[in-house]
Amino acid sequence: MKVAVVGATGLVGAEMLQALERFDFPVTELIPVASARSVGKTVTYKGQAYPVVDMEAGIAARPDIALFSAGGSTSKTYAPRFAEVGCTVVDNSSAWRMEPDVPLVVPEINMDAVQGHKIIANPNCSTIQMVLALAPVHRRWGIRRLVVSTYQSVTGTGKAAVDQLFAEREGREADAVYPQPIDLNCLPHCDIFLDNDYTKEEMKLVHETRKILGDPEIGVTATAVRVPVIGGHSESVNVETVQPFDLAEVRAAMADMPGVVVMDDVKHHLYPTPRESHGRDEVFVGRLRLDASQPQAFNCWIVADNLRKGAATNAVQIALKLLER
Ligand code: A2P
Repeated sequence: MKVAVVGATGLVGAEMLQALERFDFPVTELIPVASARSVGKTVTYKGQAYPVVDMEAGIAARPDIALFSAGGSTSKTYAPRFAEVGCTVVDNSSAWRMEPDVPLVVPEINMDAVQGHKIIANPNCSTIQMVLALAPVHRRWGIRRLVVSTYQSVTGTGKAAVDQLFAEREGREADAVYPQPIDLNCLPHCDIFLDNDYTKEEMKLVHETRKILGDPEIGVTATAVRVPVIGGHSESVNVETVQPFDLAEVRAAMADMPGVVVMDDVKHHLYPTPRESHGRDEVFVGRLRLDASQPQAFNCWIVADNLRKGAATNAVQIALKLLER
Protein backbone atom coordinates (compact mmCIF):
# COMPACT_ATOMS: atom_id res chain seq x y z
CA MET A 1 0.00 0.00 0.00
CA LYS A 2 1.43 3.33 -1.12
CA VAL A 3 -0.03 5.85 1.30
CA ALA A 4 0.11 9.64 0.88
CA VAL A 5 -0.58 11.95 3.82
CA VAL A 6 -1.49 15.31 2.36
CA GLY A 7 -0.94 18.07 4.91
CA ALA A 8 1.70 15.91 6.62
CA THR A 9 3.33 18.94 8.30
CA GLY A 10 0.10 20.05 10.00
CA LEU A 11 -1.44 19.05 13.32
CA VAL A 12 -3.91 16.55 11.84
CA GLY A 13 -1.30 15.28 9.36
CA ALA A 14 1.07 14.49 12.24
CA GLU A 15 -1.75 12.63 14.00
CA MET A 16 -2.50 10.73 10.78
CA LEU A 17 1.12 9.54 10.60
CA GLN A 18 0.93 8.39 14.22
CA ALA A 19 -2.44 6.68 13.65
CA LEU A 20 -1.06 4.77 10.63
CA GLU A 21 1.73 3.57 12.92
CA ARG A 22 -0.52 2.85 15.91
CA PHE A 23 -3.05 0.85 13.86
CA ASP A 24 -0.24 -0.99 12.08
CA PHE A 25 -1.50 0.08 8.66
CA PRO A 26 0.35 -1.97 5.99
CA VAL A 27 2.30 0.94 4.48
CA THR A 28 4.85 -0.17 1.90
CA GLU A 29 5.65 3.37 0.76
CA LEU A 30 4.87 6.58 2.61
CA ILE A 31 4.49 9.83 0.68
CA PRO A 32 4.23 12.89 2.95
CA VAL A 33 2.81 15.83 0.99
CA ALA A 34 2.52 19.49 1.97
CA SER A 35 2.78 22.89 0.30
CA ALA A 36 5.84 23.88 -1.73
CA ARG A 37 6.97 25.81 1.39
CA SER A 38 7.65 22.53 3.16
CA VAL A 39 9.65 20.79 0.44
CA GLY A 40 13.06 20.11 1.99
CA LYS A 41 11.55 19.35 5.41
CA THR A 42 11.12 15.80 6.70
CA VAL A 43 8.47 14.07 8.80
CA THR A 44 9.09 11.08 11.04
CA TYR A 45 7.25 7.79 10.60
CA LYS A 46 8.22 4.66 12.57
CA GLY A 47 11.41 6.41 13.67
CA GLN A 48 12.51 7.15 10.11
CA ALA A 49 12.71 10.55 8.38
CA TYR A 50 10.72 10.93 5.14
CA PRO A 51 11.18 13.93 2.81
CA VAL A 52 8.09 16.08 2.26
CA VAL A 53 7.05 16.46 -1.39
CA ASP A 54 4.69 18.90 -3.08
CA MET A 55 1.28 18.10 -4.59
CA GLU A 56 2.50 17.36 -8.11
CA ALA A 57 5.15 14.94 -6.84
CA GLY A 58 2.51 13.35 -4.60
CA ILE A 59 0.22 12.72 -7.61
CA ALA A 60 3.15 11.49 -9.75
CA ALA A 61 3.91 8.87 -7.07
CA ARG A 62 0.42 7.35 -7.75
CA PRO A 63 -0.49 6.42 -4.17
CA ASP A 64 -3.18 3.79 -3.49
CA ILE A 65 -4.67 5.79 -0.62
CA ALA A 66 -4.32 9.48 0.25
CA LEU A 67 -5.35 10.89 3.60
CA PHE A 68 -5.98 14.60 3.07
CA SER A 69 -5.91 17.30 5.74
CA ALA A 70 -4.62 20.40 4.01
CA GLY A 71 -7.63 22.72 3.97
CA GLY A 72 -10.82 22.86 1.91
CA SER A 73 -9.57 24.64 -1.20
CA THR A 74 -6.58 22.28 -1.50
CA SER A 75 -8.95 19.29 -1.29
CA LYS A 76 -11.36 20.75 -3.80
CA THR A 77 -8.59 21.13 -6.38
CA TYR A 78 -6.41 18.13 -5.65
CA ALA A 79 -8.62 15.28 -4.38
CA PRO A 80 -10.02 14.69 -7.92
CA ARG A 81 -6.48 14.75 -9.34
CA PHE A 82 -5.36 12.06 -6.90
CA ALA A 83 -8.54 10.07 -7.70
CA GLU A 84 -7.78 10.32 -11.44
CA VAL A 85 -4.55 8.37 -10.97
CA GLY A 86 -6.46 5.57 -9.24
CA CYS A 87 -6.01 6.75 -5.64
CA THR A 88 -8.78 6.56 -3.02
CA VAL A 89 -8.92 9.83 -1.08
CA VAL A 90 -10.13 10.11 2.52
CA ASP A 91 -10.58 13.84 2.93
CA ASN A 92 -10.70 15.54 6.31
CA SER A 93 -11.72 18.98 5.00
CA SER A 94 -15.28 20.24 4.59
CA ALA A 95 -14.87 20.53 0.79
CA TRP A 96 -16.71 17.34 -0.20
CA ARG A 97 -18.80 16.43 2.84
CA MET A 98 -22.17 17.64 1.65
CA GLU A 99 -21.79 16.65 -2.02
CA PRO A 100 -24.71 14.25 -2.58
CA ASP A 101 -22.56 11.61 -4.28
CA VAL A 102 -19.70 11.71 -1.75
CA PRO A 103 -20.08 9.42 1.27
CA LEU A 104 -19.60 11.03 4.69
CA VAL A 105 -18.39 8.25 6.90
CA VAL A 106 -17.99 7.23 10.53
CA PRO A 107 -16.95 3.61 10.02
CA GLU A 108 -18.82 2.25 13.07
CA ILE A 109 -22.04 3.75 11.64
CA ASN A 110 -22.17 3.85 7.83
CA MET A 111 -19.15 2.17 6.26
CA ASP A 112 -21.39 0.64 3.56
CA ALA A 113 -21.75 4.09 2.01
CA VAL A 114 -18.17 3.94 0.63
CA GLN A 115 -18.97 1.31 -2.00
CA GLY A 116 -17.56 2.35 -5.39
CA HIS A 117 -16.37 5.81 -4.31
CA LYS A 118 -12.91 7.31 -4.90
CA ILE A 119 -13.41 10.35 -2.64
CA ILE A 120 -14.69 9.70 0.88
CA ALA A 121 -15.30 12.56 3.28
CA ASN A 122 -14.26 12.45 6.92
CA PRO A 123 -16.86 14.37 8.95
CA ASN A 124 -16.31 17.44 11.08
CA CYS A 125 -14.69 16.68 14.44
CA SER A 126 -17.62 17.91 16.56
CA THR A 127 -20.05 15.86 14.49
CA ILE A 128 -18.06 12.61 14.64
CA GLN A 129 -17.98 12.45 18.44
CA MET A 130 -21.64 13.39 18.77
CA VAL A 131 -22.99 10.90 16.20
CA LEU A 132 -20.81 8.05 17.42
CA ALA A 133 -22.25 8.37 20.93
CA LEU A 134 -25.81 8.95 19.70
CA ALA A 135 -26.03 6.45 16.81
CA PRO A 136 -27.20 3.63 19.11
CA VAL A 137 -29.86 5.94 20.57
CA HIS A 138 -31.05 6.86 17.09
CA ARG A 139 -31.10 3.21 16.02
CA ARG A 140 -33.18 2.06 18.97
CA TRP A 141 -35.43 4.97 19.96
CA GLY A 142 -35.11 7.47 17.07
CA ILE A 143 -33.84 11.02 17.61
CA ARG A 144 -36.31 13.84 17.12
CA ARG A 145 -34.15 16.82 18.12
CA LEU A 146 -30.68 17.71 19.39
CA VAL A 147 -29.67 20.93 21.13
CA VAL A 148 -25.87 21.10 21.18
CA SER A 149 -23.38 23.48 22.76
CA THR A 150 -19.72 22.79 22.03
CA TYR A 151 -16.56 23.69 23.95
CA GLN A 152 -13.90 23.32 21.26
CA SER A 153 -10.16 22.96 21.55
CA VAL A 154 -7.88 25.41 19.74
CA THR A 155 -6.13 22.45 18.07
CA GLY A 156 -9.15 22.29 15.74
CA THR A 157 -8.03 25.56 14.17
CA GLY A 158 -4.47 24.31 13.51
CA LYS A 159 -0.93 25.01 14.63
CA ALA A 160 -1.18 28.79 14.39
CA ALA A 161 -4.09 28.81 16.87
CA VAL A 162 -2.17 26.77 19.44
CA ASP A 163 0.64 29.27 18.99
CA GLN A 164 -1.74 32.20 19.56
CA LEU A 165 -2.98 30.67 22.84
CA PHE A 166 0.52 30.08 24.22
CA ALA A 167 1.84 33.42 22.91
CA GLU A 168 -0.92 35.23 24.80
CA ARG A 169 -0.19 33.20 27.92
CA GLU A 170 3.56 33.89 27.71
CA GLY A 171 3.23 37.53 26.62
CA ARG A 172 4.87 36.84 23.24
CA GLU A 173 3.97 38.33 19.86
CA ALA A 174 2.22 35.94 17.45
CA ASP A 175 -0.11 36.23 14.47
CA ALA A 176 -3.71 36.40 15.65
CA VAL A 177 -5.83 33.62 14.17
CA TYR A 178 -8.84 34.47 16.32
CA PRO A 179 -10.48 37.92 16.22
CA GLN A 180 -10.23 38.26 20.03
CA PRO A 181 -7.91 36.94 22.74
CA ILE A 182 -8.44 33.21 23.33
CA ASP A 183 -6.55 32.77 26.61
CA LEU A 184 -8.82 33.13 29.67
CA ASN A 185 -11.69 33.62 27.24
CA CYS A 186 -14.46 31.85 25.29
CA LEU A 187 -15.34 32.80 21.72
CA PRO A 188 -18.83 31.83 20.48
CA HIS A 189 -17.33 31.76 17.01
CA CYS A 190 -15.96 28.61 15.30
CA ASP A 191 -15.33 28.94 11.56
CA ILE A 192 -17.04 31.77 9.63
CA PHE A 193 -20.43 33.40 10.16
CA LEU A 194 -23.10 32.59 7.55
CA ASP A 195 -26.08 34.58 6.29
CA ASN A 196 -28.38 32.98 8.90
CA ASP A 197 -26.10 34.28 11.73
CA TYR A 198 -25.02 30.76 12.64
CA THR A 199 -21.39 29.77 12.11
CA LYS A 200 -20.34 27.27 9.49
CA GLU A 201 -19.27 24.91 12.31
CA GLU A 202 -22.77 25.07 13.80
CA MET A 203 -24.37 24.28 10.45
CA LYS A 204 -21.93 21.40 9.88
CA LEU A 205 -23.38 19.83 13.03
CA VAL A 206 -26.88 20.19 11.55
CA HIS A 207 -26.24 18.90 8.04
CA GLU A 208 -23.57 16.29 8.72
CA THR A 209 -25.52 14.66 11.57
CA ARG A 210 -28.51 14.14 9.26
CA LYS A 211 -26.34 12.78 6.45
CA ILE A 212 -24.38 10.31 8.60
CA LEU A 213 -27.41 9.04 10.51
CA GLY A 214 -29.35 8.94 7.22
CA ASP A 215 -32.29 10.88 8.65
CA PRO A 216 -33.12 14.32 7.20
CA GLU A 217 -35.90 14.74 9.79
CA ILE A 218 -33.64 15.11 12.84
CA GLY A 219 -33.87 18.63 14.24
CA VAL A 220 -30.45 19.97 15.25
CA THR A 221 -29.59 23.37 16.67
CA ALA A 222 -26.06 24.23 17.76
CA THR A 223 -23.87 26.85 19.42
CA ALA A 224 -20.17 26.24 18.83
CA VAL A 225 -17.71 27.86 21.24
CA ARG A 226 -13.92 28.00 21.09
CA VAL A 227 -12.32 27.61 24.53
CA PRO A 228 -8.66 27.87 25.66
CA VAL A 229 -8.23 24.09 25.75
CA ILE A 230 -5.92 21.84 23.72
CA GLY A 231 -6.92 18.28 24.68
CA GLY A 232 -10.20 17.80 22.87
CA HIS A 233 -13.71 18.99 22.18
CA SER A 234 -16.55 18.74 24.73
CA GLU A 235 -20.25 18.92 23.97
CA SER A 236 -23.31 19.41 26.09
CA VAL A 237 -26.14 17.71 24.19
CA ASN A 238 -29.85 17.68 24.92
CA VAL A 239 -31.44 14.72 23.14
CA GLU A 240 -35.17 14.32 22.48
CA THR A 241 -36.18 10.89 21.21
CA VAL A 242 -39.07 9.67 19.07
CA GLN A 243 -39.90 6.67 21.30
CA PRO A 244 -39.94 6.60 25.10
CA PHE A 245 -36.68 5.29 26.58
CA ASP A 246 -35.28 4.06 29.85
CA LEU A 247 -32.13 6.03 30.78
CA ALA A 248 -30.33 2.93 32.07
CA GLU A 249 -30.93 1.32 28.66
CA VAL A 250 -29.61 4.43 26.90
CA ARG A 251 -26.46 4.24 29.04
CA ALA A 252 -26.08 0.52 28.22
CA ALA A 253 -26.65 1.09 24.48
CA MET A 254 -23.96 3.78 24.42
CA ALA A 255 -21.55 1.57 26.38
CA ASP A 256 -22.10 -1.21 23.80
CA MET A 257 -21.22 1.06 20.87
CA PRO A 258 -17.70 0.28 19.57
CA GLY A 259 -15.39 3.24 20.25
CA VAL A 260 -17.59 4.75 22.98
CA VAL A 261 -16.67 4.72 26.67
CA VAL A 262 -19.28 5.71 29.26
CA MET A 263 -17.69 7.51 32.24
CA ASP A 264 -20.63 8.41 34.38
CA ASP A 265 -20.47 8.18 38.16
CA VAL A 266 -21.11 11.60 39.61
CA LYS A 267 -20.98 10.31 43.19
CA HIS A 268 -17.29 9.71 42.57
CA HIS A 269 -16.89 12.84 40.41
CA LEU A 270 -16.42 10.64 37.36
CA TYR A 271 -17.15 12.35 34.04
CA PRO A 272 -15.04 12.87 30.90
CA THR A 273 -12.79 15.90 30.42
CA PRO A 274 -10.75 17.04 27.40
CA ARG A 275 -7.51 16.70 29.37
CA GLU A 276 -8.21 13.03 29.95
CA SER A 277 -9.42 12.38 26.42
CA HIS A 278 -6.22 13.88 24.97
CA GLY A 279 -4.29 11.21 23.09
CA ARG A 280 -7.15 8.68 23.20
CA ASP A 281 -9.01 7.21 20.21
CA GLU A 282 -12.36 6.73 21.95
CA VAL A 283 -15.35 9.02 22.49
CA PHE A 284 -16.27 9.49 26.16
CA VAL A 285 -19.78 10.10 27.50
CA GLY A 286 -20.91 11.18 30.94
CA ARG A 287 -23.43 13.30 32.89
CA LEU A 288 -26.36 11.27 31.53
CA ARG A 289 -29.52 12.57 33.16
CA LEU A 290 -33.19 12.99 32.35
CA ASP A 291 -34.41 16.38 31.19
CA ALA A 292 -37.18 17.10 33.69
CA SER A 293 -38.48 19.98 31.54
CA GLN A 294 -39.37 17.80 28.58
CA PRO A 295 -40.78 14.28 28.09
CA GLN A 296 -38.58 11.78 26.22
CA ALA A 297 -35.43 13.86 26.63
CA PHE A 298 -32.07 13.54 28.34
CA ASN A 299 -28.84 15.49 28.66
CA CYS A 300 -25.31 14.22 28.21
CA TRP A 301 -21.69 15.39 27.96
CA ILE A 302 -19.61 14.02 25.08
CA VAL A 303 -15.81 14.45 24.93
CA ALA A 304 -13.16 13.30 22.45
CA ASP A 305 -9.70 14.25 21.22
CA ASN A 306 -10.66 16.21 18.11
CA LEU A 307 -7.38 15.40 16.35
CA ARG A 308 -7.86 11.67 17.03
CA LYS A 309 -11.41 10.27 16.62
CA GLY A 310 -12.49 13.71 15.41
CA ALA A 311 -9.99 13.59 12.52
CA ALA A 312 -6.97 11.29 12.10
CA THR A 313 -8.26 8.18 13.86
CA ASN A 314 -11.55 8.23 11.95
CA ALA A 315 -9.71 8.72 8.61
CA VAL A 316 -7.29 5.85 9.26
CA GLN A 317 -10.14 3.61 10.47
CA ILE A 318 -11.94 4.29 7.17
CA ALA A 319 -8.74 3.40 5.26
CA LEU A 320 -8.35 0.17 7.28
CA LYS A 321 -11.94 -0.84 6.55
CA LEU A 322 -11.37 -0.10 2.85
CA LEU A 323 -8.44 -2.54 2.92
CA GLU A 324 -10.58 -5.22 4.56
CA ARG A 325 -13.01 -4.85 1.65
P1 A2P B 1 2.57 23.58 5.01
O1 A2P B 1 3.11 23.21 6.36
O2 A2P B 1 3.57 23.38 3.92
O3 A2P B 1 1.91 24.93 4.98
P2 A2P B 1 -2.53 23.04 10.07
O4 A2P B 1 -4.01 22.97 9.88
O5 A2P B 1 -2.06 22.32 11.29
O6 A2P B 1 -2.02 24.44 9.99
O7 A2P B 1 -1.90 22.24 8.79
C1 A2P B 1 -2.23 22.50 7.46
C2 A2P B 1 -1.52 21.49 6.54
O8 A2P B 1 -1.97 21.71 5.20
C3 A2P B 1 -0.01 21.68 6.50
O9 A2P B 1 0.62 20.43 6.30
C4 A2P B 1 0.16 22.56 5.27
O10 A2P B 1 1.43 22.48 4.66
C5 A2P B 1 -0.87 21.96 4.35
N1 A2P B 1 -1.22 22.89 3.28
C6 A2P B 1 -1.78 24.11 3.41
N2 A2P B 1 -1.96 24.67 2.17
C7 A2P B 1 -1.51 23.76 1.28
C8 A2P B 1 -1.43 23.74 -0.15
N3 A2P B 1 -1.86 24.76 -0.90
N4 A2P B 1 -0.89 22.64 -0.74
C9 A2P B 1 -0.48 21.59 0.01
N5 A2P B 1 -0.53 21.56 1.36
C10 A2P B 1 -1.04 22.63 1.98
